[in-house]
Amino acid sequence: MRLAVLKETRAGETRVAATPETVKRLLALGLTVAVESGAGASAHIADAEFQAAGAEVAPDAAAALAGAGIVFVVAMPDAERRALIPRGALLVGISGVHADAALPTSLAAAGIDACALELLPRITRAQSMDVLSSQSNLAGYRAVIEAAAEFSRAFPMMMTAAGTVPPARVFVLGAGVAGLQAIATARRLGAIVSATDVRPAAKEEIKSLGATFIGVEDEESRAAQTSGGYAKEMSEAYRRKQAELTASTVARQDIVITTALVLGRKAPTLVSAEMVGAMRDGSVIVDIAADAGGNCAQTVPGERIVTPNGVAILGYRNWPARIPVAASALYARNLLTFLSTFWDKEAKAPKLPAEDEIVKGVLLTRGGTIVHPQFLPSEAA
Ligand code: NAI
Repeated sequence: MRLAVLKETRAGETRVAATPETVKRLLALGLTVAVESGAGASAHIADAEFQAAGAEVAPDAAAALAGAGIVFVVAMPDAERRALIPRGALLVGISGVHADAALPTSLAAAGIDACALELLPRITRAQSMDVLSSQSNLAGYRAVIEAAAEFSRAFPMMMTAAGTVPPARVFVLGAGVAGLQAIATARRLGAIVSATDVRPAAKEEIKSLGATFIGVEDEESRAAQTSGGYAKEMSEAYRRKQAELTASTVARQDIVITTALVLGRKAPTLVSAEMVGAMRDGSVIVDIAADAGGNCAQTVPGERIVTPNGVAILGYRNWPARIPVAASALYARNLLTFLSTFWDKEAKAPKLPAEDEIVKGVLLTRGGTIVHPQFLPSEAA
């Protein structure tokens, strides 16, 4: 069976869904691998490296996809490229289905069996395939590094013969995978770090990394985690209490890193324009949630802006793509693990049992119909 790895075409996408390391292991499964020329260029992987690992380098998407039974991508290919995918092929990647209601219907019509790995259930068995975790982790790291570069002072306290430079104060909003890595990175750089989250489990995790927990704890927050491990959308009353606490905390910070997401919804607005207005000139806000609309009211998704009071807000999209070598390496391993888990060694083909919890979580379409219960057409739902 032939597996195609496509070059990503979305603006700003620098990652690739396979690396020479994973190509070798895909070949060991009994696959042939075709990589579209230039697919690894932005992640510093040359065509020749894929070739040396045993892949065929195809001149374009059509050549890579000809006869393919499996297709690996980072983001969902556009309609033009999807039309080149053979009927019956298995497409594996991050689908973006929450933001594209028409996607399942068009995948079903094209006869593509699509696995949306961002829908993986948060269970132990799925951890090594969890693309959101691997990518968020790196996004959290990168956010702090870019904040440090933007900041005109230093992160650690520096005692020099010429005097002392105070440590930076960093506040992290949302202590999931990205937030916890942001806390750890800021601590390693020597900052004084505090953090908040609505899920009760986050408090101990924040403290175990040496940061101070700041948060509203009440009946609602004690039930703020869904069975899937995600945060719930909080009530108006909770948000008001949280905003008061956030306002007094944010005003004292040099750096604010926001990472709060609620699955499938717009990111909650946690930092208001008024709070930004109270920050000192030279402060920095990094909004990792920019792709979901942002946690800061003044974030302009995709942009770096500086407010009239001198606060830089980095609202770049797609933070994992800002660290493409590491992000591709981990993403490619996630996809390899997914395929190896559902690989029929005898048939040398994927086998996705409909009753498997992971398959039920990620499979959007199969055999020309939508199979995911969350995305059934409304008349059938
Ligand atoms: P996420 O990316 O959906 O959200 C980021 C963080 O924002 C979460 O910690 C969430 O609680 C927080 N948040 C949401 N609304 C907020 C609000 N109004 N105010 C403050 N914070 C808010 O979450 P992520 O990072 O993908 O995962 C959350 C948790 O799921 C992890 O900490 C982990 O415990 C669990 N997990 C389990 C996995 C597994 O078992 N396979 C894999 C990955 C995560």
